[in-house]
Amino acid sequence: MRIVRTVAEMRASRPQGGTVGLVPTMGALHAGHEALLQAARAECDCVVMSLFVNEAQFASGEDFARYPRDEERDARIAEAAGVDILFAPPADELYPPGFRTWVEPNEEGLEAEFRPGHFRGVATICLKLFNIVRPQRVYFGQKDAQQVHVVLRMLRDLNLDIDLRTLPTVRDADGLAFSSRNALLTPEERELALALPRALQTGDPALARELLDGLDVDYVAIADFEQRVLAGAIRIGSTRLIDNVPLEGETR
Ligand code: PAF
Repeated sequence: MRIVRTVAEMRASRPQGGTVGLVPTMGALHAGHEALLQAARAECDCVVMSLFVNEAQFASGEDFARYPRDEERDARIAEAAGVDILFAPPADELYPPGFRTWVEPNEEGLEAEFRPGHFRGVATICLKLFNIVRPQRVYFGQKDAQQVHVVLRMLRDLNLDIDLRTLPTVRDADGLAFSSRNALLTPEERELALALPRALQTGDPALARELLDGLDVDYVAIADFEQRVLAGAIRIGSTRLIDNVPLEGETR
């Protein structure tokens, strides 16, 4: 596995022929990322994983500073999963002085309501990564269903010829969806967090809200993304968790 830090190196390392698959990540890899990497490995000639904690998608006061970071561990996992190129640039490589052009997805509701500016940061970094890596396929997890929705619409609206593959949410044995932020939970907080998947599994917003009674709930709502989901977001201490459960149809 080659580790590259600059846009120029990334462009020079990209093979000219074959299918290039990109798995964009912010690191702190878990089983959900590994499933994306495995799918990319099975379907592409060259697998690129980006590792970049994108400050632009964190609002002020959010957890950018405490977001878990361990590049050595991430590199070991990526290599074991068969990644060919790990693109891990420093922030000023992607946002150099003078940077001021943004993608505005105009998304509303749920995460867009509770994290103003979040999807602007996500869409901008995704478009930048897509332009730098030039993948034919990109891999995203269904856990971030609204993110998938926003990126798919950007691909369509901006005429990007990229196939977005969505992989089902991977859950731990206790039902908690794998998330980089789970690492921030104390054992007691993790116990409380289990209420979220249990509530969403009911498929019923009213019942789900009852099961979450006493917790700090941002929202529980049915959302029509690429499929209909029951989505929820809760705060446990200073950690915010999101999850969703498909209500009908198949994951694309
Ligand atoms: O889902 C994530 O980890 C991030 O939002 C992404 C897609 C890597 C963009 O920073």
